[in-house]
Amino acid sequence: MTVQDQNIGTLADKLAAHTGRFTDKTFDWEAFPSNVGFPELSRAQMRYIGAGGSPKVGDTSTLKPDHFTLSLIYKEPGKYAACHSHEIEESFLIIDGALIVGWEKDGEVVEVNLGPKDMILNAREIGHGFRVDGVEPVMMSISVDVGKPLPPVYHYHPKSHPPELARSFGAAPGKTQVFDPNSSDPLQQLMAQHVVRHSGLKTHWEEAGFNRKIYCGPGGIETDTCRKEMLGIPSRVGVKPFVRDVEDAFLVLEGSLVVGWEEDGEQVETELGPRDLVKTPAGRKHWFRNDGAGAATVWYVVGSAAPETVKFEAA
Ligand SMILES: [Fe+2]
Repeated sequence: MTVQDQNIGTLADKLAAHTGRFTDKTFDWEAFPSNVGFPELSRAQMRYIGAGGSPKVGDTSTLKPDHFTLSLIYKEPGKYAACHSHEIEESFLIIDGALIVGWEKDGEVVEVNLGPKDMILNAREIGHGFRVDGVEPVMMSISVDVGKPLPPVYHYHPKSHPPELARSFGAAPGKTQVFDPNSSDPLQQLMAQHVVRHSGLKTHWEEAGFNRKIYCGPGGIETDTCRKEMLGIPSRVGVKPFVRDVEDAFLVLEGSLVVGWEEDGEQVETELGPRDLVKTPAGRKHWFRNDGAGAATVWYVVGSAAPETVKFEAA
């Protein structure tokens, strides 16, 4: 049980219990037991919602997941993550830096280089790994669905494979292809259906005065788990209270965002800065507004892949 299960206290207490603040959290360098003893695999995790691939599911400083988890991952240049697969879908949204993500099938690997605001949705059962070849560390947000939180299955881990093969995600020399969405290769085509370039996504302007780029869900990558969108909210734009039948979460990437909750006519608000998050449970009336002078960029995850039901209205 985590703190937000206790449906007690004031509405402000409840909102605070559903808020994850970057400065209240710490990066955990020991989140992944399979990396122990392999410094080339080291990475740090900051958990916001659920454990997100770490077995540390009892962490009470993280919010309880319903349909998705959300965490930040930090990885330094030269480090990589060994090729593995899951029974669940997993998205990587790059926040800073450049990340090479490789997908492997039968010893062939396709590698894509993702930059800030690009995303890949790692398909179920697909062998995938990642590596930082660039000069700056990578910060990314990972979300997994909570369907079957089984441990990852490693395909090419340095404990069982030569280090150079593990670093290339299982590709022998000459077996790595650079991502090409126009290739007819089946693995290339599969990856092309799961990679999102921020610059390649259509920008939808809402009548309420903000914009959305749809990464996952109807209009974006096909999925049956969660909708994922990037919101661009100009200064002094906000929306009227709305309700969903599933949870949603706002993770601020740039600028600031006020999130409000309402219960029995009472209203409370909290302001989020970069890397702060609010998760709003199903059924709760909530809204957002940008009081800042600059635009806010917000990663928005909704606990259902069904078409949008909310018609946003300007506040
Ligand atoms: Fe994974």
